[in-house]
Amino acid sequence: MQANLRTLGPVMLVGAGKMGMALARGWLDAGLPPSNLVLVDPSPGDAAKDLAADYDLTIHAEAVGLEPNVLVLAVKPQIIGAVMGGLKQAIGPQTLVLSIAAGISIEKLSAGLETGRVVRTMPNTPAQIGKGVTGAVAGAEVSSDDRAAADALLSAAGQVAWFDHEGDLDAVTAVSGSGPAYVFNLVEALAAAGVKLGLSETVAMQLARQTVIGAAALMEVDPAPASVLRQNVTSPNGTTAAALEVLMADDGLAPLMEKAVDAARARSQELGRG
Ligand SMILES: NC(=O)c1ccc[n+]([C@@H]2O[C@H](COP(=O)([O-])OP(=O)(O)OC[C@H]3O[C@@H](n4cnc5c(N)ncnc54)[C@H](OP(=O)(O)O)[C@@H]3O)[C@@H](O)[C@H]2O)c1
Repeated sequence: MQANLRTLGPVMLVGAGKMGMALARGWLDAGLPPSNLVLVDPSPGDAAKDLAADYDLTIHAEAVGLEPNVLVLAVKPQIIGAVMGGLKQAIGPQTLVLSIAAGISIEKLSAGLETGRVVRTMPNTPAQIGKGVTGAVAGAEVSSDDRAAADALLSAAGQVAWFDHEGDLDAVTAVSGSGPAYVFNLVEALAAAGVKLGLSETVAMQLARQTVIGAAALMEVDPAPASVLRQNVTSPNGTTAAALEVLMADDGLAPLMEKAVDAARARSQELGRG
């Protein structure tokens, strides 16, 4: 069932920071009526103030007395316990809770907000331009309508992948949540290698950066598997093949990436326990 942001009813966003604002802009662009968006942040930054001015919204310091259809929790995980204490009275029987807070379990959210209607998610930063990918898990009391509502809200920031097991969110965190930083690091490494070959830092960075941007854009318009896209640009015995022989060796990129992603997942699990 496809939910429609125009008819979803009031959505309360708690935490008007980077990720919260990315989501809010996406919802408004996707048709959420501004009158159905309630922003809660005691110390909003410029992005939140700009959005509020653009859509004539009030930013509330706290959520007392409001009962939204969806409550979106977008505050830092470190303060979530304290924030949940002040939100209980804002939750009504119709309220679905959608959390983007990293590492905060459905069990903790359900206990803190006294509701089992909780969807826990892990977005990533390209959500800021509508090109994110979010992993989502629904708590036991989430209905199919709730799930459709959550999907519609998350889809405004990019793609959504649903999982049956909450533990999978640690893997999602390790692959896509932290993933954009791996790509930025790839650009740094490629540019550094170019400098070693004698290019200036500026030009090497221009070449590396635009190569990743261009390759990503090509991948976006061509649904072929990444392995096929790679093969398409690799002539036998050519220059690309020479580099891929190194990158795809037994001690190449794959085992290194596996090690990096394992480390991220272990840290995600550790933070979740903390
Ligand atoms: N950024 C990412 O890449 C990313 C990716 C996946 C998940 N997430 C999750 O998204 C959440 C938000 O991250 P972010 O990067 O958007 O953080 P952020 O920019 O710091 O946003 C959090 C916002 O909440 C505000 N806030 C503090 N106390 C509040 C309260 N009592 N009520 C309402 N709002 C309050 C903060 O204000 P102050 O600045 O004044 O404290 C800030 O504006 C986190 O839980 C994070 O785990 C982020």
